[in-house]
Amino acid sequence: MKSIIIKSYGGSDVVSIDNDTKLHKDRGEGTLVDIKAAGVNPIDWKIREGYMKQNIRLDFPITLGMDFSGIVNETNKSGKNSVSTFESGDEVFGQASVTHGGTGAFAEKAITNNDNIALKPKSLSYKEAAGLPLVGVSAWQALVENMNLSADQKILIHGGAGGIGSIAIQLAKDLNAYVATTANSDDSDFVKAMGADQIIDYKTQTFEDIVKDFDCVYDTVGGETYQRSFRVLKNGGIIVSMLEQPNSNLMEKYGVVAKFQFTQVTMKG
Ligand SMILES: NC(=O)c1ccc[n+]([C@@H]2O[C@H](COP(=O)([O-])OP(=O)(O)OC[C@H]3O[C@@H](n4cnc5c(N)ncnc54)[C@H](OP(=O)(O)O)[C@@H]3O)[C@@H](O)[C@H]2O)c1
Repeated sequence: MKSIIIKSYGGSDVVSIDNDTKLHKDRGEGTLVDIKAAGVNPIDWKIREGYMKQNIRLDFPITLGMDFSGIVNETNKSGKNSVSTFESGDEVFGQASVTHGGTGAFAEKAITNNDNIALKPKSLSYKEAAGLPLVGVSAWQALVENMNLSADQKILIHGGAGGIGSIAIQLAKDLNAYVATTANSDDSDFVKAMGADQIIDYKTQTFEDIVKDFDCVYDTVGGETYQRSFRVLKNGGIIVSMLEQPNSNLMEKYGVVAKFQFTQVTMKG
């Protein structure tokens, strides 16, 4: 089958199309899926460049790709996850990354870890569903599980036009929170359409001069944006970052909680 592979870590030049990839079942557990669509996340190039190599050992060549949607071809009743909740023909979405017990989503077929997939909502197309797993679960875990965001609280979402940010804005509005977001001016109409109450152009404006006494900050940008964000929180507020480890000096100085989130895309709570 066709897949997108790398044989070593490196830049985009190490990526190639392989026309004869064999699906080795022992490299994945669970369900064989015919891939209909795959989503692209920043983590895909981070894996390709070797950012994860301290944590996860990969045996090259590997097939790239994490998020996908597709149709169950065959369930594995004999593997580790022998109790399959899926049947042939089920429309599913989720993750098939080699970093999470899968065989890689950028391929015609993949084996996925059963814990990382769910039935695809009928209302979503395959393309829409393939764009959701990592960003959707990231936004949910941050706002609902880590922040416990509630109605009438104020949240600043950095990177509102991004994959995670655009879902986070919609989720925060669904929870009836007030949403300020940073985005560049070209994305202003888009984040407004997502539901943002207040839009700050991160290229020309200084967000910490504009918003104050917020309950929550969701940081999907990192770096100096993370450092500066502590100033917009009220005492007792919380910042959750997708990139930065908690800074204890800033936590103490501003009387706030800081958390780093490593998203776990799993059906199990
Ligand atoms: N820890 C985890 O488990 C985990 C899970 C998922 C993702 N992540 C990380 O989270 C980050 C965001 O992921 P994503 O999928 O949402 O990425 P994305 O789709 O690339 O979105 C990033 C957004 O941030 C915007 N941006 C860049 N610089 C900014 C700044 N200084 N201020 C405000 N916005 C800025 C970008 O806008 P422009 O177009 O203007 O550049 C873009 O809209 C990535 O680094 C990703 O690797 C971590």
